[in-house]
Amino acid sequence: VEWSDSERKTIASVWGKINVGEIGPQSLARLLIVYPWTQRYFGTFGDLSNAAAIQGNPKVAAHGKTVLNALDKAVKNLDNIKATYAQLSLLHFEKLNVDPGNFKLLANCLTIVAATAFGPAFTPAVQATWQKLLSVVVSALSSRYY
Ligand code: HEM
Repeated sequence: VEWSDSERKTIASVWGKINVGEIGPQSLARLLIVYPWTQRYFGTFGDLSNAAAIQGNPKVAAHGKTVLNALDKAVKNLDNIKATYAQLSLLHFEKLNVDPGNFKLLANCLTIVAATAFGPAFTPAVQATWQKLLSVVVSALSSRYY
């Protein structure tokens, strides 16, 4: 993957403004509400019975933060995203048995949550770069499935 200087700048700037403790929990909660079949992977997380329960669930919030902190690794290793996520990809495949189609769904939720948080600053150009970053992450997370 090639990144232009302007894409690198956009990613650094967007990432610098992301509040991991808000965007992470909101994105994971949105995944579980909008695509309820994704709840099957989080059987140990307690009450996911309705939107309010999911949004108020501390395990969802904590794990959303974990996921977003993992994205920080992509931002810091733009030229090496595939290798950066090799272990995490294997974990989601072999141990967690997560269907890789779900990575795309979480990426969609991250985009909507980011757009809501940024408002008009989330221009089409910013969205394009953001989604490029997420698709490289999704592809890296799927890369060790066999
Ligand atoms: C665990 C990252 C998408 C299900 C994890 C962990 C990280 C992570 C860093 C912790 C790994 C560890 O403990 O060593 C990501 C990233 C994603 C992503 C960066 C996409 C951008 C998904 C999706 C699902 C999922 C879409 C399911 C729908 C899980 C589950 C765990 C986990 C069930 C274990 C949670 C627990 O029991 O604590 N993920 N993940 N992940 N992930 Fe993902």
